[in-house]
Amino acid sequence: MTDYIKTKKINNISPTIKSGGNKKLYIETYGCQMNVADSELVVSILADNGFSTTDDINSADIIFINTCSIRDNAEQRIRGRLQIFKKIKKTKPYLIIGVIGCMAERLKNKLLEQEKLIDIIVGPDAYRDLPNLIKIAKTGQKAVNVLLSREETYADISPVRYSSNGITAFISIMRGCDNMCSYCVVPFTRGRERSRNPESIIEEAKDLVKNGYKDVTLLGQNVDKYNWEDTKTGKKVNFAKLLELTAKVSPSLRVRFSTSYPQDMTDEVLYTMAKYKNICKHIHFPAQSGSSRILEKMKRGYTAEWYKNRILKIKEILPDCAITTDIISGFCSETEDDHKQTLSLLEFAQFDLGFMFKYSERPNTYAARNFKDDVPEEIKSRRLTEIINLQNKISKSVKQKDIGKTFEVLIEGTSKKSTEELFGRTSQNKVVVFPKKNYKKGDYVNVKITDASSATLIGVTI
Ligand code: SAH
Ligand code: SF4
Ligand code: F3S
Repeated sequence: MTDYIKTKKINNISPTIKSGGNKKLYIETYGCQMNVADSELVVSILADNGFSTTDDINSADIIFINTCSIRDNAEQRIRGRLQIFKKIKKTKPYLIIGVIGCMAERLKNKLLEQEKLIDIIVGPDAYRDLPNLIKIAKTGQKAVNVLLSREETYADISPVRYSSNGITAFISIMRGCDNMCSYCVVPFTRGRERSRNPESIIEEAKDLVKNGYKDVTLLGQNVDKYNWEDTKTGKKVNFAKLLELTAKVSPSLRVRFSTSYPQDMTDEVLYTMAKYKNICKHIHFPAQSGSSRILEKMKRGYTAEWYKNRILKIKEILPDCAITTDIISGFCSETEDDHKQTLSLLEFAQFDLGFMFKYSERPNTYAARNFKDDVPEEIKSRRLTEIINLQNKISKSVKQKDIGKTFEVLIEGTSKKSTEELFGRTSQNKVVVFPKKNYKKGDYVNVKITDASSATLIGVTI
């Protein structure tokens, strides 16, 4: 996923679509894009029960923190935030603090024992129960619901895009993950894989277009496994078909998706991307490692050679497609030779961008139960630095190749550095900064690239 998996805080802005009542909800979101989408569901559910969002933590009646468990440092950061909330609660005893999302699901009641200030613990499949849980918490009791579901997709709930730029939006198309990669906590925190009814997805996309949105990202942990079968007609919709249906909603709506799973991504998806101009030419394609031995231990289900062949296929069918990746360094038993193979994969693939992490053992995963986390911390760090340095060099040189080219850019807002400049993204998901002239947010403009910094392309409109 783009920007994906960087633990980040989402600023609160009052709801734009649905306004709740006078009780105030302050919500902070950490983790992946799916958590961002889930917070929009939570705000929607609470708006129907008399709550509006606030960006002022001190005026909140309820504080929710939507949490991530993917690595230990993600959880540590959340524990740090809880200490801040504790201080606020000391001055406001009626304040309700809720921990929701993946860490709530992973730790369940244990989290209540460890952090006494928490009133509510809710896992990702139990958000419909929030109004009821808040009622319980108001009586002074602790309220917990961490039941996972095989069916819940929240298909009928319209997310409140409370922190949106009005142009880009996420649409959740499936939940959970059945892959069981050996290092990964997600199958435990988000439960079994299930697809959302395509009609509700298309309706959501149409609604976004009506409200001025121009760029949607279809979200799932493994979008290639999207699969919907109509029980009455027997009609099937796979991911390629869903992409096509979404692309047809409007030619001016850009369609993105995340995350693709290397073993499951079909040529049909690639050909569908080639067929529709408004399906963005960007694939987030997490490799995790360049060593087939490590990939097998990770239970990824593909070899490095197989992965490389898929890269070649993408480049053949979609020559202008950007490819980004995730890498884990220092997985159990990783040798210097395995690490070198990861570096050589980066050289081979020439990724536009990489998200790179040190392996963090997660309790109860297959790897935690069966392998030793035996790469010493300083070696993990050194290897990660080598991976980051190499990928930064590659990202920069890939960007340099864009100089002189012209891209269609969808404007998302004013540049952080200057009010005289706007920024937007190309189909390839690259950020471009250019002089404002008379253009505005939501316009499509053609921009000729004149320069490239490490993170952005710089250009002029033509
Ligand atoms: N579903 C996506 C990614 C989900 S998690 C996929 O399969 O690719 C996002 C990224 O976090 C993963 O791609 C992986 O690189 C990283 N990650 C997951 N578990 C991790 C762990 N235990 N330690 C370090 N990084 C991890
Ligand atoms: Fe985790 Fe693997 Fe599922 Fe991605 S595909 S969420 S890495 S188990
Ligand atoms: Fe996402 Fe973190 Fe959960 S990456 S699925 S919020 S563990």
